[in-house]
Amino acid sequence: MKRCVMLISGRGSNMVSLLDALHPGECVTVISNRPEAGGLAIASARGIPVATVDHRGFVAREDFDAALAAEIDRHAPDLILLAGFMRILTAGFVEHFAGRMLNIHPSLLPAFPGVHTHRQALAAGVRLHGCSVHFVTPALDGGPIVAQAAVPVRVGDDEQSLSARVLVEEHQLYPRVARWFLDGRLSLAGGRVVLSGEVPVTGSLHAPQVD
Ligand code: GRF
Repeated sequence: MKRCVMLISGRGSNMVSLLDALHPGECVTVISNRPEAGGLAIASARGIPVATVDHRGFVAREDFDAALAAEIDRHAPDLILLAGFMRILTAGFVEHFAGRMLNIHPSLLPAFPGVHTHRQALAAGVRLHGCSVHFVTPALDGGPIVAQAAVPVRVGDDEQSLSARVLVEEHQLYPRVARWFLDGRLSLAGGRVVLSGEVPVTGSLHAPQVD
């Protein structure tokens, strides 16, 4: 069984969607940079060991990343899943986990990296918005995209209504991509996404198509 570590900072709804559909993997720990993250209690209630590496206890970003990397490495994971983990990571940290760390970002990358993505989308007036799952590289929200799901932007949308529509898609998309990795179908080779086997296109999901 492949071993996953999840990193969270908040309520953990993506974490829950991953926990519900992680086969053939197991989540060996959930780590947060915030002790008050609501997702920690949810993970604990499900019997998953949790840990906090509080970023406020470190002056230098490198020192926080080193402590976090040590905590992750203790669990010898095959896959690290960033699930609403709201910290910018140093290049050294990211490179240490190259090819085995995924992130979900609530926009159709490369549009709207960083924070407040729904606000950015509304301000830009785009008609399509969505979410992306990508391998993590040192470029913020800039790693190779594995799959995306799109939603319409409706007249009258505000940040709340738009983020709720995107979140529904996040909860579908991320577990699917994680399972591809755990099934040995998804990897990163030479900086490019390699995905083997059939990818049924359903609804709003878009992933590399195999000829
Ligand atoms: C999600 O929209 C995720 O894409 C973004 O932050 C949010 C976290 O939500 N990075 P949750 O903690 O998974 O509920």
